[in-house]
Amino acid sequence: MAAKTQPSSSSLLLMSLCLLLVSTIVPSSVLSATLRSDIQALESIIRSIDPSSISPSSYLSTWDFSEDPCEGAGTFLGVMCSFDPLENTTSRVTEIDLDDDGYDGFLSDATGNLTELTVLSLNRNRFRGPIPETVFQLRKLTKLSLSGNFFTGDISPGITRLKQLKTIDLSRNSIAGEIPPRISALRSLTHLILSNNHLDGRIPALNGLWKLQVLELGNNHLFGMLPKLPPSLRTLSICFNSLAGRISPLHRLKQLVSLDVSQNRFSGTIGHEILTFPEISRINVSFNQFISIEVIKVTGMESRLRILDAEGNHLQGHLPLNLATYGNLKDINLRSNMFSGDIPRIYGKRLENSWRSLYLENNYLTGSLPEEFQRISKQIRGSLSNNCLQCPKNVPICQGVQKPKSQCTNAMQEELE
Ligand SMILES: *[C@@H]1O[C@H](CO)[C@@H](O)[C@H](O)[C@H]1NC(C)=O
Ligand SMILES: *[C@@H]1O[C@H](CO)[C@@H](O)[C@H](O)[C@H]1NC(C)=O
Ligand SMILES: *[C@@H]1O[C@H](CO)[C@@H](O)[C@H](O)[C@H]1NC(C)=O
Repeated sequence: MAAKTQPSSSSLLLMSLCLLLVSTIVPSSVLSATLRSDIQALESIIRSIDPSSISPSSYLSTWDFSEDPCEGAGTFLGVMCSFDPLENTTSRVTEIDLDDDGYDGFLSDATGNLTELTVLSLNRNRFRGPIPETVFQLRKLTKLSLSGNFFTGDISPGITRLKQLKTIDLSRNSIAGEIPPRISALRSLTHLILSNNHLDGRIPALNGLWKLQVLELGNNHLFGMLPKLPPSLRTLSICFNSLAGRISPLHRLKQLVSLDVSQNRFSGTIGHEILTFPEISRINVSFNQFISIEVIKVTGMESRLRILDAEGNHLQGHLPLNLATYGNLKDINLRSNMFSGDIPRIYGKRLENSWRSLYLENNYLTGSLPEEFQRISKQIRGSLSNNCLQCPKNVPICQGVQKPKSQCTNAMQEELE
């Protein structure tokens, strides 16, 4: 490697004199394509990050301010600029999309000076402290993605000024307080992802967000009933909160592909509408207080439902026969409910040719095992233990003990009363 020769101090002086001369004669845009205050903002962003957390292979290690941020080749990775040679010779920073290097620090207030910014994405680093209020001046932002950091504080109501936002992802931080009710004014939103924070309060009405496709609010401290939600939703995840009441407001969400309401306090019936949404593929209603599930017959492969998880509810009555008509169903979990009666023969047939897993453990099922169960492959996962079944030990999913028969007949008696 050739060592660079150090310029002598006199030649440095000469150089800076020349630069001074040049910059007074030629418009500054020739020397620097990027708007001065954008460069200052970038300098301030990197200054607010602990240098020891910037590894040599990271994007930030390429931010070399002896080059122009919008011009330098191979420098300023993670920065995108706009440049319109006809209209304007000044480039503006339009995107900051950093890698996940573990950058440790605060997000500089100067970020708010990058007024042409459309994307701010800093996922999976170690940014901490509140999201600076100046970020909510960036009216051109379409994507604000700060997932997997240590941001604290509330979601500022100022966020509702950012009318161009399509994606908000603040998941996996330590953000507290309520979801600002006026967030429903952000009519362009398609993704609202706030899961794994410390949010509390009620979920505001979001039906104004008519383009919203993904709503993830899981692992917070949200309570109250389900609000109005937009029918455009394809993914809804609100698991691990303290939400209660009926889930009938979900019946309108006919475009859902994936639904997770697990680990809440929902009660009542899981309506047939939900199981028969045309696109629905995954349903997780586990660990709530539902007492019944409506499973209507479908024809052949028209249903896309693949996974049904209803573990840990109070579902009663016989196992739903019509489950066997859902031609794409693979994994079924009805563990820890209050189902009684026999296991339908058709379940055995499905295990022979299409189902991959069946968990019926810890219910009040009785009778002998349908003979098809003797023939099912060893690949099938599942469990039938802790019922009152006659379950031959040579059948793999019969592992584990059964309850005394009297416990199941008593349970059925109580149900009838
Ligand atoms: C054009 O350049 C000026 C500064 O010379 C700047 O204020 C303005 O924001 C630029 N416009 C665009 C669209 O980049
Ligand atoms: C951001 O802009 C404001 C107002 O123009 C200015 O006072 C401040 O110094 C700027 N911050 C940085 C770091 O450039
Ligand atoms: C359903 O949710 C529970 C609790 O949140 C989780 O443990 C389980 O893995 C989920 N089931 C499926 C099939 O993803």
